[in-house]
Amino acid sequence: MAHNPVRVLTKYIELHGDTFRFYFGGVKEAIVTINPVVIQHVLKNNSENYHKSEIQKKRMGHFLGKGLLTTEGEAWRTQRRLIQAGFERKQLEVLSSIMRDSLADSLRDFDRQCRIGPVDVYPVMMKITFGMVARSLFGARLKEEDIDIISLAISTVQEFMVRQTIQPYLNPWFAVSGELRRHWGMRNRAFGILRDYIQRRRKEVPGHDLLQILIDARYSDGRAMSDELVVSESMQLLVAGHETSSNALSWLLYLLSSRPDCVEKVREEFEVVLGDRPLTYSDVPKLEFATQVIMEALRLYPPFWMVDRMALADDRAGNVDIPRGSTVVVFIHGAHHSPQYWDNPERFDQERFSKAQEKLHTPFTHLPFGAGSRGCIGGNYAMLQMLMILSVLIRKYDFRLVAGQTIEARPMVILRPEHGIRMTFTETIPRAVGRLSDCSA
Ligand code: HEM
Repeated sequence: MAHNPVRVLTKYIELHGDTFRFYFGGVKEAIVTINPVVIQHVLKNNSENYHKSEIQKKRMGHFLGKGLLTTEGEAWRTQRRLIQAGFERKQLEVLSSIMRDSLADSLRDFDRQCRIGPVDVYPVMMKITFGMVARSLFGARLKEEDIDIISLAISTVQEFMVRQTIQPYLNPWFAVSGELRRHWGMRNRAFGILRDYIQRRRKEVPGHDLLQILIDARYSDGRAMSDELVVSESMQLLVAGHETSSNALSWLLYLLSSRPDCVEKVREEFEVVLGDRPLTYSDVPKLEFATQVIMEALRLYPPFWMVDRMALADDRAGNVDIPRGSTVVVFIHGAHHSPQYWDNPERFDQERFSKAQEKLHTPFTHLPFGAGSRGCIGGNYAMLQMLMILSVLIRKYDFRLVAGQTIEARPMVILRPEHGIRMTFTETIPRAVGRLSDCSA
């Protein structure tokens, strides 16, 4: 279970049906489900009765303070409303150019690496996407070395939080050995960098980034957010956007490496829609095929393989009793791979997300961005980001998986490639724009 919970929970679904009770550590009751009626009830229809799990909030809140990821109720609702403005269409148009410049910078490095030999796409995608998110938040002037310090602090502290959660008996040791202090030091350094940027920004000309949205936001009584809250909210956005798109892109490249027909069709679509120009947010609805391909990759490899909630009061969802205090585990990976909802679920078939077929899906069985009021606030941003990166990579390079490696998904907080994914990238030979050819799996 500790090594591969996805495998164990999938086996239990096969044995016990789409919802079963599970006792973590033999004591704490959890209800694991892929049943869409139960999922809809918990995440959407009766979401008021469910809070994020204590473990998530307590451990994260300890290091990250107050913010979208760690608050509930009215405090969360108010912040969500204010921050949502940063992810609306008009703002995403504005962010497109910041993202594009950041991507161009990172690609110079990437290009150099590719010329030397194969690259592990996971850390490379992480560097590219994190640079984009960090600059979307803090603007183009955020320094490269500051981005690296913050990124390292997030990965290291996140890993430490996971260890604190799955090995709670080591907590006294973490305290005496200095591990706790070391992680707090990294955390404080990253917070300090963000605090400096925020204080400097308050005295400068306004920017067009998400930070400006947080600074300009006003509560109904006219108050602004305190510096501390702007720091912790922006840190939480960085944490939430840290490993997600990079993870999805890594798996997407891996899947596409065995589908040259799809690669060709995605390329053609980018050429027809964009020609030589870069992508902006208004192009996103026109990129139907590329979007289908990404949706299918997110089905097979959802970065969040599960989300959990704790029931505040006794409840009943469908025919499942949910006692107060129990945890509901929405097993996203399980729903995405269930033969109940998907024909031949292990097969990559982007046509499942064509307009005609999408209508036939059972609702609440494809949940890469979660669902309900606490679903991903950055979903549209992430789609823009993934399409933008894909549009550049696929038009510039041919890519191949290095033979003889073991590719394995390791479900930690995020579904990571356990041993990396090594690929070669070589520059494409320019080709003529053709008609969009057929590409069925
Ligand atoms: C492919 C990329 C992404 C995926 C698959 C993803 C997935 C998710 C999921 C499943 C949730 C719901 C968690 C729950 O219900 O407990 C979530 C929440 C969230 N995501 Fe994303 N995410 C992605 C990218 C991003 C990005 C780029 C950002 C920000 C820049 C972001 C910010 C957030 C935040 C702040 C929340 C918490 C929302 C709240 O509780 O109100 N995400 N994400």
